[in-house]
Amino acid sequence: MLVPVLGTAAPARAFDEPITPIPQQHGQDPDKVALGDRLFHDVRLSRDDSISCAHCHRLEQGGTDRLPRSIGVDGALGGIKAPTVYNARFNLAQFWNGRAANLHEQAGGPVVNPIEMASTWKQVISKLSQDKAYPEAFNALYEDGITEQNIL
Ligand code: HEC
Repeated sequence: MLVPVLGTAAPARAFDEPITPIPQQHGQDPDKVALGDRLFHDVRLSRDDSISCAHCHRLEQGGTDRLPRSIGVDGALGGIKAPTVYNARFNLAQFWNGRAANLHEQAGGPVVNPIEMASTWKQVISKLSQDKAYPEAFNALYEDGITEQNIL
């Protein structure tokens, strides 16, 4: 579709497809996706085992908690609304103000944020290492097993 824009000399091609369709395939390793899905729903990523990522990003509710401001560990009230996580991978940047370049950079935030999951990486790695299934799953996918980088 051609979209006329006043005052620009951009060639028509630039406007051929104003919205890029979301790819039907994500091209990710299915075992990593399954492990990530499990971590996304795991409350042990929070300090007191009370909330998971899915607590604020409810996949059955469009990937958000539908609250004006999210509630973290100990009922801490966040400062801003949780956006959906659906198709977040295709975002130009992450967070409302774009302060994380990609999901890898973004995912570290909530785990250690005092008004979200309020944990530490040391604590998370220690808890996940005691799980029956995680060590094997991580070791099968990553040479160095359960680390902050691999969890991210
Ligand atoms: C306590 C609630 C809460 C928890 C728990 C939480 N988030 Fe969020 N999430 C938010 C809020 C609020 C924002 C927006 C923050 C901002 O923009 O400053 C956000 C932003 C995001 C974004 C950016 C989306 C976009 O459109 O920019 C992604 C992706 C995301 N969270 C994934 C996660 C993952 C993965 C976890 C678990 C490791 C997690 N969240 C845990 C509340 C939460």
